Amino acid sequence: MNLQFTRHRRLRQSANMRTIVRETHLHVEDFVYPLFIVEGNNVKNEVKSMPGVFQISLDFLKAEMEEVVSLGIKSVLLFGIPHEKDECGQGAYHDHGIVQEATRLIKEYFPDMIVIADTCLCEYTSHGHCGVIEGGKVLNDPSLKLLVDTAVSQASAGADIIAPSNMMDGFVAAIRAGLDEAGFEDVPVMSYAVKYSSAFYGPFRDAAESAPQFGDRKTYQMDPANRLEAMREAESDVLEGADFLIVKPGMPYLDIVRDVKNNFNLPVVIYNVSGEYSMVKAAAQNGWIDERNIVMEMLVGMKRAGADLIITYHAKDAAKWLKEQ
Ligand code: PBG
Ligand code: ZN
Repeated sequence: MNLQFTRHRRLRQSANMRTIVRETHLHVEDFVYPLFIVEGNNVKNEVKSMPGVFQISLDFLKAEMEEVVSLGIKSVLLFGIPHEKDECGQGAYHDHGIVQEATRLIKEYFPDMIVIADTCLCEYTSHGHCGVIEGGKVLNDPSLKLLVDTAVSQASAGADIIAPSNMMDGFVAAIRAGLDEAGFEDVPVMSYAVKYSSAFYGPFRDAAESAPQFGDRKTYQMDPANRLEAMREAESDVLEGADFLIVKPGMPYLDIVRDVKNNFNLPVVIYNVSGEYSMVKAAAQNGWIDERNIVMEMLVGMKRAGADLIITYHAKDAAKWLKEQ
């Protein structure tokens, strides 16, 4: 190539020229919107560390969903905040648990909406860990049984997709078997296959009231320094029957998203987590950044990295901005 004749700028000279050569596009159907549903009535609490994100009770859910639907968003991810917590997280697998009731309500009014149920125990356990505890340790196999019960009760309530986020070993196989046995062969598993132990989850733990009461999650969530281990995590979930693979958090892990995309032939989901959202919001509120342009650049970057779906608290704003474009 004779560099004298190279003119990369030919393809950038006008808005339409840039549009016709654009490689990556965001669509509203790329977004999954997370919701925090709290037990009780007449609750709409803004999460302090997540401006624009609310804990809502069931009586506010229909109006919230009307807005979500009107924006064209096709899927929501449900987290529940129960009144009562206990050692074994019974609220997670109670047939009238908060996520189960929220699912029923959404499916009654918006049957086409894809309801994704987060399957974990940490919002429901008094100790705030994602499994059962004995002698200060999070036990793997005894936790699986409770997670299977949770998944089956969520599917019974009408959840379209089960999204286990607990990082116990073998959770996909256990949940797949449990769902099949209960007659839910057609309910896909969206596995949090690659979930790092991350400081970026801080604001979520305020929102979901799920911070561990002792220790941390480093014995089950991954070390942020590891890349090959992420491939082992994804591989085992694929073999166990996962239908989607989630990488989480998002922004600092785009290399992992690309690796998962290149190595496995399943839809890849990125979780643009709470801490990423809060940083953008805080900087925007200070007038330090242009929120709209920053958010759209981040989201398109996630797709460029290989994500097919993006779980994001920015979903409603991004959907509005896409409409305006
Ligand atoms: C817990 C769970 C976490 C998130 C989703 N499910 C965090 C944690 O491990 O404490 C994080 C989501 C976010 O930060 O937005 N199973
Ligand atoms: Zn958890």
